[in-house]
Amino acid sequence: MLCEDEIVSRFLATSLFVSPEVVAYIKEQDDPGLIDRIIAGTPEGTVVVSPDCIPALKKVRDGTRFLADPVCEVLAGMENSAESIRDFEEYITYFRNRFTRLSTFMRGRIQPVPIEALARTGRYQEEEVSFIGMVSNVRSTANGNKMVEVEDPTGTMRVLFNKSREGFSEAEKILPDEVIGVRGKLSQDGTIFFANTLVRPDIPLSNAPYRSERPGRAVLISDIHVGSDTFLEDEWHRFADWISGQEDIGYLVIAGDLVDGIGIYPGQEKELVIKNIYQQYAALGEMLSALPERLTIVISPGNHDVVRGAEPQPAIPPAFRIGYPANCVWVENPALVSLQGVRVLIYHGRSFDDMIGTIPGASYNRPAEIMEEMLKRRHLAPIFGMRTPIAPGKKDPLIIDPVPEVLFTGHVHISGIKRYRGVLMINAGTWQSQTAFQKQMNTVPTPAQAVVLDLQSLETEIVDFLTPGS
Ligand SMILES: [Fe+2]
Ligand SMILES: [Fe+2]
Repeated sequence: MLCEDEIVSRFLATSLFVSPEVVAYIKEQDDPGLIDRIIAGTPEGTVVVSPDCIPALKKVRDGTRFLADPVCEVLAGMENSAESIRDFEEYITYFRNRFTRLSTFMRGRIQPVPIEALARTGRYQEEEVSFIGMVSNVRSTANGNKMVEVEDPTGTMRVLFNKSREGFSEAEKILPDEVIGVRGKLSQDGTIFFANTLVRPDIPLSNAPYRSERPGRAVLISDIHVGSDTFLEDEWHRFADWISGQEDIGYLVIAGDLVDGIGIYPGQEKELVIKNIYQQYAALGEMLSALPERLTIVISPGNHDVVRGAEPQPAIPPAFRIGYPANCVWVENPALVSLQGVRVLIYHGRSFDDMIGTIPGASYNRPAEIMEEMLKRRHLAPIFGMRTPIAPGKKDPLIIDPVPEVLFTGHVHISGIKRYRGVLMINAGTWQSQTAFQKQMNTVPTPAQAVVLDLQSLETEIVDFLTPGS
């Protein structure tokens, strides 16, 4: 397999620079003749070989999109679509679905063989070979390498990622239950697989985001926590006044933790100014009723809300929606909505807790870095059995498919914006000032901010309501 330095040197030898996306593509393809073919096909006068020079990397979207509803359409996670929790057997179906669908995202890049065939025949012991599996166990060896146990429907294989190999930093981030592709060689005795390359489902390099054909703006907020003594009421009123004057803002999207809830953590009652759950939702209903009617308000729940904690979380039940304006669209968590054709994947973000605790160097202060890890795995909550409860269904609703224009999360109470392979990642912060728990954990939130998303340009702006007159 070619390493990055070799690829860059081969291009430099013909006086060409090469973009990181093209380097990543060449590494993935593992085709020895590919560089020569790319160089031969590069137009004269080219200085940097970018994805535009390579037919396979041409941006795939053509700028048109069929819109059943040109304004706001719920594409996934519509109300009443979450399946009820049945029995243990359902988990087998659920994980099969997860494995099969995530595998298909890698099929164009590696040709997997079943693990059983790999282990039982001597055929593959001399040649480089690939397989796809779900990680059942991951640990560091005494030498600092990674030993990963991977399984597919036919068998289990131990895979060793050597710390001296290029790309080891990605192997260090392997999570339990994620689906990975591995290319490498089997040991002589057939018991260990030595990995050369790690492949993830990932966002295609050719991904090009759709942009609305007409002007329009959306405001993204999350973690309002109405009912808490740290909810920032004055700041909310400043926000409400501001949005009333922004005529071209047609959408308000809320990514969960609408209210602070009841009994979410020990001693919570001491930090509540509204101690009744119905009254907490009624207060939010009043707040949203005061906003302009022109807004389509998309509402998704979070772990502080009244619905079950297991994901997908159902939409807020009608009993709690009394007094809400008619322009509310109630969706589940996660949910995929199309705003003028721009697909926004809303996910509250409970899995941040699991991923931040597991990925080396990850921090609550940089949520967008974790969102990038979700996109690479094409999964919103890759780890099973930690703090993110998952309800098994026939189809895994936490798989990121199709690729959205925007991945929008909350939960960490710290804002962050970043792009990865054309996908805009937004975490919108909170409307709650620092809580006693956050103080104890040394977490400094970014409260009273709204992220404004321009649907035509996909550019963002953060508007701050913390300071009076800002
Ligand atoms: Fe929250
Ligand atoms: Fe939360």
